[in-house]
Amino acid sequence: RPAVPAPAAGGGVHHPSRAAIPARHLRRDRWWLAPAATTTGLLIFVVYATWRAFADERYYAAPYISPFYSPCFATRCVPMKDGASWGLFGDWWALSPALLVLIFPLGFRLTCYYYRKAYYRGFWASPPACAVAEPHKKYTGETRFPLILQNVHRYFFYAAVLVAAVLTYDAAIGFRNEHEEWGHMGLGTLVLVANAVLIWAYTLSCHSCRHIVGGRLRTFSKHPVRYRMWTWVGRLNARHMALAWASLVSVALADLYVYLVAGGVFDDPSFF
Ligand code: FES
Repeated sequence: RPAVPAPAAGGGVHHPSRAAIPARHLRRDRWWLAPAATTTGLLIFVVYATWRAFADERYYAAPYISPFYSPCFATRCVPMKDGASWGLFGDWWALSPALLVLIFPLGFRLTCYYYRKAYYRGFWASPPACAVAEPHKKYTGETRFPLILQNVHRYFFYAAVLVAAVLTYDAAIGFRNEHEEWGHMGLGTLVLVANAVLIWAYTLSCHSCRHIVGGRLRTFSKHPVRYRMWTWVGRLNARHMALAWASLVSVALADLYVYLVAGGVFDDPSFF
């Protein structure tokens, strides 16, 4: 499709039907607060996640494994119980094991419809916010390379389901003690369980998931199971932004918890 030129004077946000507002951005409220807060939050996460992904240490405190390093594929992973360390790739993989797995949740979030809106506004001001004049000369949307690659989102969704399944396994392993027996529960167990629940809620609230579950149906009454699932996913989907942030915070906190316990900063409080 051809590039869509930014609205010229007299069109778009400058249309005569719009109230004559002398403000430079055509809005008098503090419209920049939301994109500024979004940018700040994302930057904090990116800095933290980059540090932890390359840190290559303190990601396992039995029975807890950091979600940034799970599943731990590489041979260089620290020894873990319950098969959490896979020992693949031999010695040639010399980088942090986190880099082998983070590509999937990273790709899922980077191509997420909500995050796209968030970082297009926050980092590129394209557009800066609703009803604010587009500062760029022309607007091609996602019709060209590289942004057309955002269409791979639906495939990252399938990978994200696997990631959520792995984190669920890790949370379950959190109920095992040092002898690999069931019957343990520490604060770390609750942290991993809460993270797995939020990751599932975010993953299932995905727009691609909603389409996979209930899309392309002509008659809902002929597909009662898919219709029921579609309504459940729809309810989650309405909270997609909140779940995106909640799961982003929870995954960072779960990693931080394991980092602190693995480093001996404090002992994991155990309830039984
Ligand atoms: Fe956000 Fe799919 S649209 S995860």
